[in-house]
Amino acid sequence: MDSFDIRTKIYFGDNALDRLAQLPYRKVLVITDPFVVKSGMIQMITYRLSEGNCEFDIFSDVVPDPPVEKISVGVKKMLECNPDAVVAVGGGSALDSAKSIREFAGKVTKRTDVALIAIPTTSGTGSEVTSFAVVSDPSENIKYPLVSDTLLPDEAILDADLVKSVPPSVTADTGMDVLTHAIEAYVSTQNNEFSAALAEKAIEIIGVFLLRSYLDNNDTHARKKMHIASCLAGLAFNSASLGLNHGVAHAVGAKFHIPHGRANAIVLPHIIEFNADINKHSKSKSEYLPAVRKYVNVAKLLGLNNFNEITTVRALVSWIQFMLKEMNIPMSISQCGVDRKAYFDSVDEMAEKAIADACTATNPRVPTKEDVVTILTNMYE
Ligand SMILES: NC(=O)c1ccc[n+]([C@@H]2O[C@H](COP(=O)([O-])OP(=O)(O)OC[C@H]3O[C@@H](n4cnc5c(N)ncnc54)[C@H](O)[C@@H]3O)[C@@H](O)[C@H]2O)c1
Ligand SMILES: [Fe+2]
Repeated sequence: MDSFDIRTKIYFGDNALDRLAQLPYRKVLVITDPFVVKSGMIQMITYRLSEGNCEFDIFSDVVPDPPVEKISVGVKKMLECNPDAVVAVGGGSALDSAKSIREFAGKVTKRTDVALIAIPTTSGTGSEVTSFAVVSDPSENIKYPLVSDTLLPDEAILDADLVKSVPPSVTADTGMDVLTHAIEAYVSTQNNEFSAALAEKAIEIIGVFLLRSYLDNNDTHARKKMHIASCLAGLAFNSASLGLNHGVAHAVGAKFHIPHGRANAIVLPHIIEFNADINKHSKSKSEYLPAVRKYVNVAKLLGLNNFNEITTVRALVSWIQFMLKEMNIPMSISQCGVDRKAYFDSVDEMAEKAIADACTATNPRVPTKEDVVTILTNMYE
């Protein structure tokens, strides 16, 4: 038996942030990125909370790829503050910090009634609607995806005014994260008609609006669309989960501190080639792996079509490489400035971590350690 639900209530469109003035809580803890405070963007949140007569406190000691130590500092703050709700504002790092802080504080207080309102300021992770939170253990160079329905936000507020300030390189990285979520959910072994519909819409939007939002910060229409696409892709993978792309990106990103979306973008062409096995020219159509048909659908949604299935999957790989070039994303790990020896010394360890990563379990083709070593090797140059 399968099931599908969307538990997070989503507010979107113009003035979506006004929802904050209607919150029924006495006291909230705002957990946010230091950028949101320094840039003054925090006032867009706090003045609405004040309008609704809601008391608030702010925790802004969030860093990218949140490490466990920062989560425990946040838990202390939450125990002191004892709020009725947490309002998380920021990129995936701030949202995942807030999800983890609320989760661990709840284990201490035994309170299960503290609400979570997630407000993304990047169009990337979809964390505002997922039961995932990724925390890092820098001492072990590992990223752990925590997965539990108790991590799901109660409300998500999508207000594209908050993403206007995102610089082009972050737009590129986070946008490629959205594409990876949608494609991995689409080909996942747990995909279903509901997750597929969400992923297809996300892919269609990305094809038209990602490059536009990268090229012009003031293209508010494109930014609004990408903000919605990010959430749609989050809903898709919350149901269908992800795959080996995220497993490898987590392993490489944690080891060499490559931003999450950028790591996914570099890995994506290699994973499509592996899942579709497109280098086996001699195969007849009946021997194509099931992922081939799915990738062909993805290519068609992006307006790509070639004379047969395999050349269409190749066109998809070329389109992704074109997007990386156009958005100045490194095409390989060496272009990220990672030392060759340090990288190859770690390939074995990263392959093991990628296989053990919770996301890898739903990859359409089961990888061996040797397969992952080959992918990691090809990704370097
Ligand atoms: N929970 C999930 O479902 C999920 C899914 C994918 C990734 N993740 C995790 O999310 C994290 C990545 O999140 P991210 O890609 O959103 O990046 P991020 O939150 O780390 O932010 C990247 C940078 O952008 C800045 N920034 C954020 N909003 C901005 C704005 N409006 N204007 C200007 N600068 C802004 C931040 O200060 C930071 O320097 C990783 O830890 C990743 O593993 C979680
Ligand atoms: Fe991701």
